[in-house]
Amino acid sequence: MSGPGAPGPPYLAAHEISEIVDRLGREISADHASGLVLVGLLKGSVCLVADLARRIGVGCGVDFLALAPYGSGGQRISIAKDLDVDVLGRDVVLAVDIVDRGLTVSYVRRLLGERGARSVEVCTLLDRASRRLLPVDLRYVGHTIGEEYVVGYGLDADERYRNLPGLHVLEDGQRQGHPSREI
Ligand code: IMP
Ligand code: MG
Repeated sequence: MSGPGAPGPPYLAAHEISEIVDRLGREISADHASGLVLVGLLKGSVCLVADLARRIGVGCGVDFLALAPYGSGGQRISIAKDLDVDVLGRDVVLAVDIVDRGLTVSYVRRLLGERGARSVEVCTLLDRASRRLLPVDLRYVGHTIGEEYVVGYGLDADERYRNLPGLHVLEDGQRQGHPSREI
């Protein structure tokens, strides 16, 4: 799938992602017989949420949250787009593209807990555990990844490549000038 515009060798093909999301959907459904709210973190989770929601066989609300980007060394995170639903007393599954340092997921999980969610579990397509700064309990993990920076299936480099159907490794040369660890 390395056609024009594809930035490097395939990492996971679309059909492999599909199998992963099938499994995640089964796991989430099995654990949430009484339903859940699927909260996607924009923008990286947009493909995951669209596919995952259709694989969840129990009652499932869908909502999105967007955080404002933070720069290197910046510790402040703010909400750019808040949820529409009230998570009070609800079982929430937070869907994210990748957990890297763990800062983003830790922040959102605490926020949802403070709003009275009954439970907050994390579902991540990719887990880069080697770069973790904050420990995060990840209930649903699609695939464990190393140091490769990947794009496609919602993940971007400077807002590019989110629309690629599969995941591709971004070569170092293509990352120059790119704040590679922004949200
Ligand atoms: P962290 O866990 O707080 O470091 O932030 C994770 C966020 O960084 C993800 O939601 C992505 O937006 C971004 N990110 C980290 N690694 C990658 C990557 O390999 N490709 C694209 N985005 C990434
Ligand atoms: Mg990004």
